[in-house]
Amino acid sequence: MKNLKWWQKTAVYQIYPKSFLDTTGSGTGDLRGITDKLDYLQKLGIGAVWLTPIYPSPQIDNGYDISDYTAIDKNFGTMKDFENLVAEGKRRNIRVVMDLVFNHSSDKHAWFIESKSSKNNPKADWYIWRDAKADGSPPTNWRGIFGGSVWQWCEERGQYYLHTFAVEQPDLNWENPKVRQALFDAANFWLEKGVGGFRIDAITYIKKPAEFLDGEPDGKDGMVSVHTMTANTDGILDFLHEFKREVFDGHDIFTVGEANGVDAEDLQKWVGSDGVFDMLFEFSHVNLSLKGGEIWCRPTKWKLTELKQAIANSQAATKNNGWYPIFFENHDKPRSINYFLPKGADSVKAAKALGTILLTMRGTPFIFEGQELGMSNVAWNSIDAYDDIQSHGQYELALNEGFSKEQALEFVHFFSRDNARTPMQWSADANAGFTAGKSWLPVNENYKTCNAEVEDVDENSVLNYFRKLNNLRQNNETLLNGDYEELLKDDEKIFAFVRSAENKKIYVLVNFTLDEVKFSPEFLSRAKFIFGSFENNVAGTLRPLEAVVYEEMK
Ligand code: NOJ
Repeated sequence: MKNLKWWQKTAVYQIYPKSFLDTTGSGTGDLRGITDKLDYLQKLGIGAVWLTPIYPSPQIDNGYDISDYTAIDKNFGTMKDFENLVAEGKRRNIRVVMDLVFNHSSDKHAWFIESKSSKNNPKADWYIWRDAKADGSPPTNWRGIFGGSVWQWCEERGQYYLHTFAVEQPDLNWENPKVRQALFDAANFWLEKGVGGFRIDAITYIKKPAEFLDGEPDGKDGMVSVHTMTANTDGILDFLHEFKREVFDGHDIFTVGEANGVDAEDLQKWVGSDGVFDMLFEFSHVNLSLKGGEIWCRPTKWKLTELKQAIANSQAATKNNGWYPIFFENHDKPRSINYFLPKGADSVKAAKALGTILLTMRGTPFIFEGQELGMSNVAWNSIDAYDDIQSHGQYELALNEGFSKEQALEFVHFFSRDNARTPMQWSADANAGFTAGKSWLPVNENYKTCNAEVEDVDENSVLNYFRKLNNLRQNNETLLNGDYEELLKDDEKIFAFVRSAENKKIYVLVNFTLDEVKFSPEFLSRAKFIFGSFENNVAGTLRPLEAVVYEEMK
């Protein structure tokens, strides 16, 4: 068995700092709040925290619109607070991982302000500028990820600029070596601060096609998704190898790229010894409801066998080379128990069921804040209650496609990114103990029963389940490094797999339904029950949402 690196043996915890813990009463979370909770994270068995962006930002897209790459937004604290967090983290073996948002900056970044000022300033080609078509319309019919055209007219310069995401997030021009150097310098700045790695945002969009052409419309608005037209353009890997040489190489860190649209077959070019990153977030398993693309009003039905297949493909692709980041949640997705399990599922059982897969599969588990408590979706009764910019864009898109306001809101309820962004539920106190002020986003109503304080002392809570299973994982060679093989491939009710090492096999079975199901794999007679979401397992039976772990010594 090969030796594993530190980040392959631990679990990573994703923090959405704005919603984690507010220590000042401002209503938004801050860095000191994170430092205060390091002991909580240590008890959960976390070796690294990935922070979504904490740089100065107008917060149009909650920090993914950055106006200075080498500073801290004052709403989160100071550089001293950051340094203190890194130092306190190190004392507990918890490293801090930064989010690099290099496809685009904020339109308030000094680079863009200069770039838009004329066609011949020193930064004129730091962003992507094009003339209007002869009739004055935008250069192409590409629709941005948040809805509307990707092109924004700029009066000052007399040209359009391209923004894959919001109008306030202009895309940087990676073709310009000076832009690349400036971005690499920013990443190196954080390495000098002692960070433990990077999550690299929206990386599949950095390379644009040589020619900008209209695409076949995919919606009633006459537009086509920018994703179809620009994701993974040939030549992108050259940029990324340069990034690796200039920044990542020679550091004891991990990198995980956010790479929507990279298929399992292509993973080898992106991760592992010949690739660029250590891990890659690819979304095939969390986008099964959006098989036709990121259009919320066209949700697609999916079967458990498809989920199993998507995960099996990624496991196979990273079997001998590269490493898999296991995740069911992040700040862009609804809560996993609402997404993957049937309506009406008990949230505690559901969270344990998915948590069992998360913590026993091969790869590094990424726990999103609150997932370890079983936090769930919200459903607010007006679109105005939603902060998420994408929810607003998708709501408009649904209305354009002919849906009623009520229907459009239902899509938002299901898919909104705010589902994951409601404040962390620390206690049954006001605002779930998140803030003493007015919370920037309402707290989920279930906070009185679903919170860290209550769960800490409840042996049967989701929190203690995650703690115990993560501990089991980190002390178990087979769970850390054993091979992964899918079992019961064609079964639409049970998610099952086996992890095998030289002297041991570990079987994991999870019932995804609200029915009791029977199972009779041949290993049952040889293996013993070692862990599960119910106290005992009745051999051969899985109660609704039950998860079991069996061990067989060879
Ligand atoms: C992906 C991030 O995870 C998401 O939150 C953000 O809106 C976009 N990239 C744009 O940066």
